[in-house]
Amino acid sequence: MKNILVILGGGRANGNTVQLAKSFIKGAEEAGHNVETISLLKTDIQGCLGCNACRFGKPCIQKDGFNELAPKIKNADLIVLSSPLYFWTISAKLKAFIERFYCIAEEDPNPPIGRYEKYPVKDCALLMTSADNFFWTFEQAVSYYQFALINYIGFRDKGMVLAGGCGDTNGRPQIDKTDYLEKAFEFGKNIYV
Ligand SMILES: Cc1cc2nc3c(=O)[nH]c(=O)nc-3n(C[C@H](O)[C@H](O)[C@H](O)COP(=O)(O)O)c2cc1C
Repeated sequence: MKNILVILGGGRANGNTVQLAKSFIKGAEEAGHNVETISLLKTDIQGCLGCNACRFGKPCIQKDGFNELAPKIKNADLIVLSSPLYFWTISAKLKAFIERFYCIAEEDPNPPIGRYEKYPVKDCALLMTSADNFFWTFEQAVSYYQFALINYIGFRDKGMVLAGGCGDTNGRPQIDKTDYLEKAFEFGKNIYV
């Protein structure tokens, strides 16, 4: 049994992204994992201000939803990030959440080349939806995930479901016409098999 923290990084109330995340959660719970879900539409998290108070042993000066989330991040084995594709990358809300990881970094006396501090080591996965469905559609989002979360922060990639072709936000969500809900369910069910 693993502790899984799912971050809903935006999208419509019962839109493609929430449906994708819910299918993942259903699979993960069926496999016996403990899943907690946080919606960044309800829990307000601002981006980092770069004041560096945290680098002088002080708590983050921003008093928002990240404070209650920090212990949940530390307690999680796996962090699942979900987002609609907005202008070819993750949502601003999810980006703001990731920026705040700056205040949970610790000093690393021996950092590997290109890293300056130490982050808690977690498993990580990415769930995304989009309107387009070309081979380049998720390129920027996946590149950011790999650079920032896997290569820099040092999380261990457990995989991703990139659900292209879910329809644009002019119309109703269309993810149910694709096979991505089934894929996300299987992904959640088998993530630690
Ligand atoms: C502000 C905004 C930007 C978007 N940018 C893109 C984009 O760059 N590429 C794309 O394929 N779809 C784009 N879309 C469409 C959404 O990614 C797609 O409809 C998604 O599945 C919506 O998720 P939801 O149903 O969870 O709200 C955009 C939608 C919005 C509202």
